[in-house]
Amino acid sequence: MNIILLGPPGAGKGTQAKRIEEKYGLVQLSTGDMLRAERKSGSELGRKAQAIMDAGKLVSDDLIIELISRRIDQLKGGKGFILDGFPRTVPQAEALDRLLAEKGLKLDAVIEMTVDEAELIHRIAGRFSCAKCGASYHDQFNRPKTDGVCDVCGATEFTRRADDRPEAVKIRLVAYREQTAPILPYYRKKGLLHPVDGMAAIDEVGRQIEAVLGRP
Ligand code: AP5
Repeated sequence: MNIILLGPPGAGKGTQAKRIEEKYGLVQLSTGDMLRAERKSGSELGRKAQAIMDAGKLVSDDLIIELISRRIDQLKGGKGFILDGFPRTVPQAEALDRLLAEKGLKLDAVIEMTVDEAELIHRIAGRFSCAKCGASYHDQFNRPKTDGVCDVCGATEFTRRADDRPEAVKIRLVAYREQTAPILPYYRKKGLLHPVDGMAAIDEVGRQIEAVLGRP
């Protein structure tokens, strides 16, 4: 099964992608995480992307399409995938169709996570993640079981993203409205779009997604 999680910044795409990975044995392909890994490694691509990401703008379509195509090719044993943060523009959605056709693959569902803007800002403002393994938390909604200790790897250092500053968040929300939301009709027309209520609690959103995907 190959699916897309679509939604504005802070909608909970990363949070749900991790749960779907575990339950359905799919692989999360997050373009945001890939770009952050490139930055950490100091690669040329990472250097190019850094200022654009920190400002809250979108990285160029060509660069992202190349990145995702390589990652799909690296999947082993015919594993299905969850696209998180891709596609984000109409040209990316069209390129994805071409890529999948070339590779003999298809999309099974596009999950649209809807959340109010005020809630998105609240979620992003409270987000932090483990500096070692990247597990994501929230000051209020999703705290580690033991304060100051990562549930996943036990590390005690946490970080906040540079693009989670309020000025950058405003620009990311505009980018979503103007560049990403126009791909919703593209998938609706194909009969692939399934809206879920992203305002619900994390477990409830997970249940709604399972209702779309079927039992693991
Ligand atoms: P990316 O990393 O993809 O960021 P994003 O789309 O802005 O999404 P986020 O990671 O901020 O949010 P999320 O929906 O994953 O929410 P999360 O689960 O963390 O992209 C970053 C940048 O990279 C872009 O701005 C761009 O520059 C570049 N880029 C990436 N892909 C690109 C592309 N295809 N083309 C061009 N440029 C690209 O949840 C948020 C918080 O809320 C967490 O603290 C979580 O614990 C909490 N939470 C989650 N669900 C709930 C819930 N149901 N109730 C309460 N709290 C919740």
